[in-house]
Amino acid sequence: MELSFPRYLLAKQTVDDRALNRVVLADLQTALHAVSGRQTFQIIEVGAGIGSMLARLLKWEILPENVHYTIVDEMAENIDFARQWLPEWASQNGFDAKTLGADIRLSAHTCAVTVRFVQADVFDFIRAGEALPADLLIAHAFLDLLPMPAALVSLFSLLKPGGLAWLTVNFDGVTSLEPALDRVLDAHIEQIYHHSMDSRPSGGDSQAGRHLFGHLEQAGAEIVSAGASDWVVYPHKGQYPADEAYFLHFILHFFEMTLSAHPELAPDRFANWLKQRREQVDRGQLIYIAHQMDFLAKLQQPH
Ligand SMILES: C[S@@+](CC[C@H](N)C(=O)[O-])C[C@H]1O[C@@H](n2cnc3c(N)ncnc32)[C@H](O)[C@@H]1O
Repeated sequence: MELSFPRYLLAKQTVDDRALNRVVLADLQTALHAVSGRQTFQIIEVGAGIGSMLARLLKWEILPENVHYTIVDEMAENIDFARQWLPEWASQNGFDAKTLGADIRLSAHTCAVTVRFVQADVFDFIRAGEALPADLLIAHAFLDLLPMPAALVSLFSLLKPGGLAWLTVNFDGVTSLEPALDRVLDAHIEQIYHHSMDSRPSGGDSQAGRHLFGHLEQAGAEIVSAGASDWVVYPHKGQYPADEAYFLHFILHFFEMTLSAHPELAPDRFANWLKQRREQVDRGQLIYIAHQMDFLAKLQQPH
């Protein structure tokens, strides 16, 4: 199977569509409804991948009328893909797509969005001081990869005082693969997989969701709402919807990449475990659940 990270992000869209917490989303919608149409609303999305959150927000008609949306991701492959894919997606979904120099402009009767693409480590981008102060910061499936709480404080420097942060799909300590193969081995693999997230040199937290309550408060933000956004991937009559079988194969690839040389895991047992999990996907049997959390927070105004 060809492994492409942009295709994994495409396949993840339907999983994320179901997962996003609807109470937190409704609170975001309420806040965005209050925005005046005349002013340009500045959004910055960090670790944005191929831009699928922007496509979702357009499809769900959540954005204010006049938006400038900056997409930041460090992977050139993602940004190159986003530049091509977003205008194609927009044209197929009733938007007019135009190129404006290095930016693109996507418009429909309800809203117009100018999209800026930035291929950079977001912390280098922040240090370069080139970002326009944002009304809304979005980080989706991203914060659990970062050193906390320092990264949050730095990301909040992108916001205007009183700005909003919609921080979604933050992993929170539970991975479940059913049906069980060997309960003891399954639990051991889950435990060392989570531990690997906690010990990455670049940062990361396998309980990022629950820890955000404290980190947000320390970073000077008020939590407007919070709730679970679990990934729940399961077959319907032996078939996964959309491209979710690919998504599951990619999740198993992450397990393989992370744990292949793990000293606590016998290579042949792990290889056999992976083979059986892949066969469960191919037979349309594997059920995958990852517990995650969403937050809407508001940066406090300086006194
Ligand atoms: C799990 S993916 C999520 C992508 C996207 N938010 C989505 O859900 O479709 C995490 C993304 O963060 C990007 N990333 C990781 N570290 C980064 C950094 N320091 N600066 C910018 N992007 C980063 C990766 O390239 C990757 O695209």
